[in-house]
Amino acid sequence: MSAGRSVLVVGRSGQLAEALLPALRAAGFEAVAMGRPDLDLRDGDSVQAAVRRTRPALVVNAAAWTAVDRAEDEPWPAEALNAGGPAILADASRAWGAAMVQVSTDYVFDGRKGAPYTERDNPAPRSIYGASKLAGEYAVRQANPRSVVLRTSWLCSATGHNFLRTVLRLASEREELRVVADQLGAPTFADDLAVAIATMAPSLIAAEAGSTRFGVFHLAGAPHTSWHGFAEAILRGAAARGHRAPKLTAITTAEYPTPATRPADSRLDCTRIADVHGIAAPDWRVALDRALDTLVGPTLAPQPARQSKEGISA
Ligand SMILES: NC(=O)c1ccc[n+]([C@@H]2O[C@H](COP(=O)([O-])OP(=O)(O)OC[C@H]3O[C@@H](n4cnc5c(N)ncnc54)[C@H](OP(=O)(O)O)[C@@H]3O)[C@@H](O)[C@H]2O)c1
Repeated sequence: MSAGRSVLVVGRSGQLAEALLPALRAAGFEAVAMGRPDLDLRDGDSVQAAVRRTRPALVVNAAAWTAVDRAEDEPWPAEALNAGGPAILADASRAWGAAMVQVSTDYVFDGRKGAPYTERDNPAPRSIYGASKLAGEYAVRQANPRSVVLRTSWLCSATGHNFLRTVLRLASEREELRVVADQLGAPTFADDLAVAIATMAPSLIAAEAGSTRFGVFHLAGAPHTSWHGFAEAILRGAAARGHRAPKLTAITTAEYPTPATRPADSRLDCTRIADVHGIAAPDWRVALDRALDTLVGPTLAPQPARQSKEGISA
């Protein structure tokens, strides 16, 4: 591969990993995605071999243990993959001379601020998953000074396990969906996040350690909403494409207990990435339309107005 244009994506079949390859290639990079069994993030030898083989100018870590609730009972895989793995990768990328992007999460915050979180706010995770991702952030920043920690939230895509696909599946099966309305945040579509990473890539590859291009950044979709608001938009968009639409009921977090505690308000302030990298928070409603076109089909043509004796009626 030509030096300076090669990007190693760690993780192969995940939501973000799948979106990164086309986005990076469209931006002119020679991108390779590697995952198990060729690259196991918990195994230093396999990580170093992958870096030597792909000779990257930039490494993007899209692999993680994302089973938030399971991590409460099984903390070890989350800690190994979300904290230990990024440390190994950051070490290998620094030794090779590559910059690195570590993707992280809004769940590093406790959700009590009452306003969107900036990169200067102190993290205080309330779950094992959040704590393991925060440990990964610290490890990467310490091991590779030419690194970006990119926090995002509510990741979705037309593939993989996510809220969008769960809502569509349950909408086919149930008469009523009950969705939490008192947790605030924002959906972020993997293809938008991937384009943002591809946009940052050239300047990360060129920048020296100490540049403001590195450090912690937030990028999530806009506008902010609740899980209930997101479900409403999904059902409305799906119904416009002829999908079955059940009744949607707003509930509280207390009515839907989960093993892991989620932040009640994890809205992310995305000003810094706009100022430093010129990347605006992507409108998730546009990305949702794209995903629904793929998952459900195109929007149905509006029915022609029926002529009644009195005149035009809907
Ligand atoms: N999902 C969300 O709602 C959300 C929200 C905020 C932030 N994030 C962050 O965004 C990033 C991408 O998340 P995602 O939703 O795209 O994740 P995902 O769909 O769950 O994919 C995780 C990836 O990690 C890989 N992986 C697992 N164990 C591995 C190992 N030992 N070695 C190498 N690869 C391994 C998986 O590969 P296999 O196919 O081999 O299992 C898979 O490709 C993560 O850092 C996550 O923490 C996610």
